[in-house]
Amino acid sequence: MSTKPIGIFDSGVGGTSIWNELHLRLPNEHTLYLADSKNSPYGTKTQQEIIELSIKNTEYLISKNCKLIVVACNTATTSAIKVLRERFNIPLIGIEPAIKPAALNTKTKAIGILATRGTLSSELFHQTTDLYNDKIRVIEQEGEGIVQLIESGKLDSVEMTTLLKLYLQPMIQANIDYLVLGCTHYPYLMPQLLKILPKEVKIIDSGRAVAKQTELILNKNKLLNISGKKPETHFYTNADTQVISQILGDAYKDHISYLDF
Ligand code: SIN
Repeated sequence: MSTKPIGIFDSGVGGTSIWNELHLRLPNEHTLYLADSKNSPYGTKTQQEIIELSIKNTEYLISKNCKLIVVACNTATTSAIKVLRERFNIPLIGIEPAIKPAALNTKTKAIGILATRGTLSSELFHQTTDLYNDKIRVIEQEGEGIVQLIESGKLDSVEMTTLLKLYLQPMIQANIDYLVLGCTHYPYLMPQLLKILPKEVKIIDSGRAVAKQTELILNKNKLLNISGKKPETHFYTNADTQVISQILGDAYKDHISYLDF
């Protein structure tokens, strides 16, 4: 058993969608979240840049005594998780778009995937989609500009609705019945997505699967916190604290700190 915190990092505030699922599934665990919003978005950076930022984030969380790290960013996972696993002797959980359940369950034989350029161009993404490409249509769309709008506090804005309509139109025309969210920022777009997409379209993300996998790995390594002490949660951001505060809501405002990182 271990009372050390679970460390979580993302290119910004989006990984809090993963933190929500972790907190629901593992309510006894201490958590420490690092939002590298100053360097957001990762999706348009080179692989080398993403690797360097991911190493820096991981080193910081290890220096804070974390027992396991969740890379709560699809782009950082596809670009850097291999290097992180080679370099650090700590359990690391990554995020992959939930393509498999969508591909196996589609009735219209067409699924959509919205992700960053970094994720869509990665080897891991191609390996996964190649498994299904001869059976179904996978309509890929880069969500250019979406992360930037969320990180500047414009989640619910006219600009966001305009972008989403533009990106989803080809998928609607292709008659998709599943939309896979391939970026941890995107679950926060759910209200807008539901308004734009036909009601038959199911939207899936990776949050629950990641929380389940984290529990499994903690259990396997005998690292679950069974102390019964009230867990602590800290969110660190190297940008304006208002943005993460707006995403998390009032209940967490005293848990957020600025970090010169
Ligand atoms: C980004 O920083 O571009 C998005 C993060 C993600 O892919 O989850």
